[in-house]
Amino acid sequence: MIAPSILSADFARLADELAAVEGADWVHVDVMDAHFVPNLTLGLPVVKALLKATDIPIDCHLMIDDPDRWAIGYAEAGAYNVTVHVEAANDPVKLAKDLKAAGAKAGLSIKPGTPIEPYLDLLKHYDTLLVMSVEPGFGGQDFIADVLDKVRVARDRTDKGELNLIVEIDGGINADTIEQAAEAGVDCFVAGSAVYGADDPARAVAALRAQAAR
Ligand code: DX5
Ligand code: ZN
Repeated sequence: MIAPSILSADFARLADELAAVEGADWVHVDVMDAHFVPNLTLGLPVVKALLKATDIPIDCHLMIDDPDRWAIGYAEAGAYNVTVHVEAANDPVKLAKDLKAAGAKAGLSIKPGTPIEPYLDLLKHYDTLLVMSVEPGFGGQDFIADVLDKVRVARDRTDKGELNLIVEIDGGINADTIEQAAEAGVDCFVAGSAVYGADDPARAVAALRAQAAR
């Protein structure tokens, strides 16, 4: 699956930018609070407007402090998947249960420097795992290939039936990096600059998908 990140889209024309990625599996929406990460983007009112503007499932990536307080609103609004950071969550088990009870998939994200092993039990409560392959905060950064070891662990546990995760990767995914990520076992590839930096974003989505399936 390919999830274009609207972080690299034109924020003044978001409805058009959603239409431009027709055929994408999910649309990835980066919520940043200028506390958990050194950048500020958008919040629930904008996500509600996006939900009205597209039928593509919305994948919310909350790079915010205190997701225990804020994440539920995105699930209740109708986001398909709501991802919180393990580094920010206070009670991630309760959060996962609440997100699922509100009708969303529950996602957990780990920064490049955060190991996966301490969280393997916790991940039993989650539907998706978002492995960050750049430091969260900005689009257009270089892919950190070391994180693929964490993808392999999640893939292996999922294939064995110990976990039931959709494995997502986020950051630096493009024509040069997507094949190694696919080989490691990623299910869903987030791509911002590689999609919205292309002349034809829908074609870029199709090309990335074909490349990942090779
Ligand atoms: C970064 C965001 C990413 C970002 C990826 O903190 O979480 O979703 O949009 O952008 P690219 O694909 O350009 O690395
Ligand atoms: Zn993201």
